[in-house]
Amino acid sequence: SRTSNELNALPIPALLEDKNPEEGISDYYLNVQKGTTNFMDDLLTPTLGYNGNYLGPVLKTVRGEEINMHISNELNDTTSVHWHGLETNGPEDGGPRQIIGVNSTWEPSFTINQPAATLWFHPHVIGTTATQVYQGLAGLIIIEDENSKSLNLPDDYGDNDIPLIIQDRSFNEDGAFVYANNMMNGAVGDKIIVNGAITPYLDVKQMKYRFRIVDGANASNYNLRLSDDSEFYQIASDGGLLEKPIESKKIFVSPGERAEIIIDFDKYQEGDVVELLTDTKLVMTFRIGEAAEDLTVIPERLTEIEKIDESLVTSVKTIELDGMGHMVSINGRKFDMNRIDDNVTLGDIEIWEITSNSTMMGKMGHPFHIHGTQFQILSRDGKEPPLSEQGWKDTVFVQADETVRIIVKFNYKGVFMYHCHILEHEEAGMMGQLEVIEQ
Ligand code: C2O
Ligand code: CU
Repeated sequence: SRTSNELNALPIPALLEDKNPEEGISDYYLNVQKGTTNFMDDLLTPTLGYNGNYLGPVLKTVRGEEINMHISNELNDTTSVHWHGLETNGPEDGGPRQIIGVNSTWEPSFTINQPAATLWFHPHVIGTTATQVYQGLAGLIIIEDENSKSLNLPDDYGDNDIPLIIQDRSFNEDGAFVYANNMMNGAVGDKIIVNGAITPYLDVKQMKYRFRIVDGANASNYNLRLSDDSEFYQIASDGGLLEKPIESKKIFVSPGERAEIIIDFDKYQEGDVVELLTDTKLVMTFRIGEAAEDLTVIPERLTEIEKIDESLVTSVKTIELDGMGHMVSINGRKFDMNRIDDNVTLGDIEIWEITSNSTMMGKMGHPFHIHGTQFQILSRDGKEPPLSEQGWKDTVFVQADETVRIIVKFNYKGVFMYHCHILEHEEAGMMGQLEVIEQ
């Protein structure tokens, strides 16, 4: 077990090794396995992981790469591996239709064909998504492209480019996880964990760091800010870089969402400590070390985001999100694997108007996610979305009684899920299926 000194150092997930020596083609191996993790004292928590005990390695790749995945399931239960935010055809998506049986393998191949971004992967089997994620199954995907590599952003993985997979968990006295689905809001833990360690610290030099934040919680939103209320820069949303960095003192993420930020620790002195908080609760601590040469920049322009053309929209659909706990539905229906809820023609552009209705039980917002595509937010209650939401998105938080209009283009064929990313809501049926068919 860990010594007290190591106990809360921020773990940095390993990079997944490409076993194919050929340029342009990668072969990656993931084992879905059981293990134990030492979160506190000398207690061992039974957990699940990819190629390890908790969470998984980071798949770092580049646009244009052909990828062959080799996934084997060593659990006593079925699983699947869904590439959240990745643009692929339905059969490669890893949703509830691509189940991997016990002692079985799944070997999808796909080509990365989207801009530089931080995506992630996690299980997606009906009935066990929420508990398998809670026990540790989640990993990161980093895509780079020509543009992102040319910008001189912090991009040395593990050095000045650091993933922060933020989750919350509750523990028993014996160290085991307590999965407490409160039936209303989903499973919320009382301890914040980042990359698999409880409220860890990271030793940083006086230079710029890029953090790839993933809200990997089952159900919690995080309202992130620094303890001294100093500013940082948001440079990316779910599906890639924003057009320009946004100077900001706080950032909101809901389950499934990602945000990349740059914090410049240059303004601090050796020995200073600054905390990352969600509201007033500790997430992690940055311990400032020595000065360092920093050749990275925060460019004025990051990328160009072409607006999806509204004049080409072929249909406007309404999505009504209702309820809490087990009483959830989309457009009045619960998920049915045998029912296609929406038919789409390949290449079509649609507007979806998503509303989260208050019910007799109260008010609740829902993080709404669509598989296999990246969309753009047109408006929130008729108003222009904030700058942080003017880039590519695959998950959008819809507040209670709010209507969010998105514009989405379907470039890949097959059946895809759309759902609330509060995993307990998804499990309770707050999910639908769309099918994209070639005309
Ligand atoms: Cu990250 Cu269907 O989910
Ligand atoms: Cu929900």
